[in-house]
Amino acid sequence: MGLDELFGLGGKVALVTGGAAGIGRGIARALAAAGATVAVADLDQRGAEDVARTLGGRAIGLRADVSDEGAVQGLVDAVCDRLGALDVLVNNAGIYPSSPIAETTVAEWDRVMAVNLRGPMLCTREAARVMRARGGGGAIVNLSSMAGFHPCFPGMAQYCASKGGLVMLTRSAALELAPEGIRVNAVCPGGVETEGTRENLESGLRDVLTPRIPLGRVAVPEDIAGAVVFLAGPAARYVTGTTLVVDGGYLIS
Ligand SMILES: NC(=O)c1ccc[n+]([C@@H]2O[C@H](COP(=O)([O-])OP(=O)(O)OC[C@H]3O[C@@H](n4cnc5c(N)ncnc54)[C@H](O)[C@@H]3O)[C@@H](O)[C@H]2O)c1
Repeated sequence: MGLDELFGLGGKVALVTGGAAGIGRGIARALAAAGATVAVADLDQRGAEDVARTLGGRAIGLRADVSDEGAVQGLVDAVCDRLGALDVLVNNAGIYPSSPIAETTVAEWDRVMAVNLRGPMLCTREAARVMRARGGGGAIVNLSSMAGFHPCFPGMAQYCASKGGLVMLTRSAALELAPEGIRVNAVCPGGVETEGTRENLESGLRDVLTPRIPLGRVAVPEDIAGAVVFLAGPAARYVTGTTLVVDGGYLIS
């Protein structure tokens, strides 16, 4: 098999949630570079449209809150109407507010679970609906975290619980959707410099993390995107229900 046959996504339509910034934007760029037509969805509509414009081709940007059932149904239908299909879903949108357990409110807990866990479930459900209607086949990649395996810091219990839940949602959905040829996998990044983490990294977090990372540095979004392209494409055609840790070795140190 040639490289294109292994890693190319020509003719495929991919949807990336939370694609206006950070890791999602890096993934959208990498999927487009691999040949996919990309739909970028985000709470930030202008940001999603700006990223789509940089991707060229038929890329589109759309506003959607992944925690909102009606919005997710509308999003998946809009992608199919405007781009003709949905072959690859990347559940990337996520939030990571910090709050000690003793002070966490029900509203804070519910919001983290709604975005980080309900969102991927809704997007998976709706993507599977349209993939099934087109005869089956497709790839879903969930952005979990090394925090799904290892508590990152005090104050992050709700985040870690949501990412641990996403690992199990990945494996359960993979089992259930395999008969329809829909593969479901997760990528679990370590610390990545993005709009969402930059401030904390610059105010001391980078100095705490770096000595514990065997590869010696915090990641950038491009370090994560290749793993997503691999799991989305033909090279991973026999891979489902797995979690690919992309953390510079943090979890083995
Ligand atoms: N940055 C890291 O160190 C790191 C590490 C491991 C895992 N992750 C995971 O990777 C993903 C992306 O992280 P990031 O650092 O790039 O985040 P970020 O905050 O830089 O960007 C997230 C994007 O998602 C969008 N978003 C937030 N809530 C949304 C919602 N309800 N619906 C639609 N869009 C929404 C935001 O508008 C933003 O554009 C998250 O799931 C995060 O948990 C990040």
